Amino acid sequence: MIAVHVLNGPNLNLLGTREPQTYGSATLADIEASLRARAGELGVDLVFRQSNHEGDLVTWIQEAGKAGAGVLLNAGAYTHTSVALRDAIAGAGALAVELHLSNVHARESFRHHSFIAPVCAGVICGFGARSYTLALEAIVPLLQARSGAKA
Ligand code: DQA
Repeated sequence: MIAVHVLNGPNLNLLGTREPQTYGSATLADIEASLRARAGELGVDLVFRQSNHEGDLVTWIQEAGKAGAGVLLNAGAYTHTSVALRDAIAGAGALAVELHLSNVHARESFRHHSFIAPVCAGVICGFGARSYTLALEAIVPLLQARSGAKA
């Protein structure tokens, strides 16, 4: 069975009340519930995690890579600062998609640069909570192609 680890970085635990004009009113638990429903339809085994600590995200990326699972990463502000997350994805050989609720390119210039995007299969941003579903739908055929290539 295809496995996908959805890893959420700092401040995403505040969704629902955090700057709703930018991030919408869905909580992270709401997002997890709708993603689990879609994962069920797609036959994907889903792990869903959040941490405010960069090192937790590094460890979880390594775990996913070792397990051969795909990674959907909303690294929050670490997207724009973290060489460690970039190195974790590259080092673990993880198949990853970067995602964001907001359209980071339509916001402050410091959000326009991502350390993570160059080591990801692609980036999805700007669709609110739907960014998660779109990212899941995007990564599944990539994981299928990879496991087909290995078989
Ligand atoms: C975010 C965008 C980041 O720039 C920001 O720091 C976040 C959330 C998003 O999902 O839109 O924390 O990753």
